[in-house]
Amino acid sequence: MLFTPLTLPNGAIVPNRLAKAAMEETLADAGQLPGPRIVRLYRRWAEGGAGLLITGNVMVDRRALTGPGTIALEADTPLDPFKAWARAARAGGAQAWMQISHPGRQVMANMGGLAWAPSAVALDMGKHSKMFAQPRAMREADIAEVIERFAATAHAAEQAGFTGVQIHAAHGYLLSQFLSPLANRRDDAWGGSLPRRARLLLEVVRAVRARVAPTFCVGVKLNSADFQRGGFSENDAREVLAMLNGEQVDLVELSGGSYESPAMQGRTADGRTLAREAYFLEFARDLAQVATMPLMTTGGIARRAIAEGALQGGVAIVGIATALAAVPDLPRAWQAGGEPAAAMPAVDWKDKALVSLARMALVRRRLHALAAGAGAPARYSPAFTLVLDQLRGARLTRRYRAWLGTVAPL
Ligand SMILES: Cc1cc2nc3c(=O)[nH]c(=O)nc-3n(C[C@H](O)[C@H](O)[C@H](O)COP(=O)(O)O)c2cc1C
Repeated sequence: MLFTPLTLPNGAIVPNRLAKAAMEETLADAGQLPGPRIVRLYRRWAEGGAGLLITGNVMVDRRALTGPGTIALEADTPLDPFKAWARAARAGGAQAWMQISHPGRQVMANMGGLAWAPSAVALDMGKHSKMFAQPRAMREADIAEVIERFAATAHAAEQAGFTGVQIHAAHGYLLSQFLSPLANRRDDAWGGSLPRRARLLLEVVRAVRARVAPTFCVGVKLNSADFQRGGFSENDAREVLAMLNGEQVDLVELSGGSYESPAMQGRTADGRTLAREAYFLEFARDLAQVATMPLMTTGGIARRAIAEGALQGGVAIVGIATALAAVPDLPRAWQAGGEPAAAMPAVDWKDKALVSLARMALVRRRLHALAAGAGAPARYSPAFTLVLDQLRGARLTRRYRAWLGTVAPL
């Protein structure tokens, strides 16, 4: 079952049911462009056998990045580096989709770019809140600009040779902020009732669809819930899926959470317990009753039996992130009957926000090692890795701020 091809609504074929889920590589070269390291990393995954490779989030606006090592693709960005990236990702016959995203308020205060949000509501990260920018409520013209930017980035991704895009509407980034009644306090046409909160996502989907060929795939990553009291609920997700049924969407990936409630890492702020493996499968099973497009679920999947169970549970594609950082050829290994251990080291500290940062830093370090040609994972110290990650982040932030000052004065 895992190795049966899937035909998407637009007729495109995914050669098997295993997808590499998006992981921000933090490997941008100068100018926030892809370079030889990311090309090498994607060649590894292309050889690894997943049927769909979704890139880490690529920003639609160079003035608003999730982090200083993130890639940005705008209408006037040179395409050659992106062509090399797409070629590498497609080298093994997989679908190669670019995840396109706007961070909204989930930007660090020290980045010096824009912090746009539906409303001027800052992130609540407890004692770490000050690290994040104070956002400004978006005006009508800003909303129109964001819609146009998603379309322009999707068009550029197609020109570069990617076979699809995934619109990131999960994990508390801008489109997810609009969906959330906690972050979106607007009382105009873009806030209030769910259809209004979902309007930006729907308009982005339509604008992207209108700008690309029908054979180019358009997917959406959506939270099955935010796992915050009063946030975007499972019922909301069900209704948004019903709205997406009316659009030409080829795949919806279900995840969950945000920086405030990192359910995508298996931990929730509202105390709800997720399954130990395949965190969102229960939700996906339920949402599959509503969805007319194929569904993918990502989160906590590292064993073949769990992946197979997810398919039996009604999802069409199984998304894997961390385990494909540990073992980039996990699909090939499974197909050959192997079951390599694909877990990253556990981090068991008291400060849960630091645990999240350390876990991300460990995966990123592994991605950078793969990009440099490494073999089996080394045993990294979480504390040392976190320090290295912070130092690297500070260096890249200086580089980004200097570049931004020359290309996009605010
Ligand atoms: C280092 C790292 C970077 C990530 N970057 C992204 C991203 O750019 N876009 C996204 O949608 N999810 C991102 N995620 C979340 C993953 O796609 C996935 O939803 C999550 O890690 C749970 O899946 P897993 O248990 O297989 O890792 C990232 C995860 C990690 C560990």
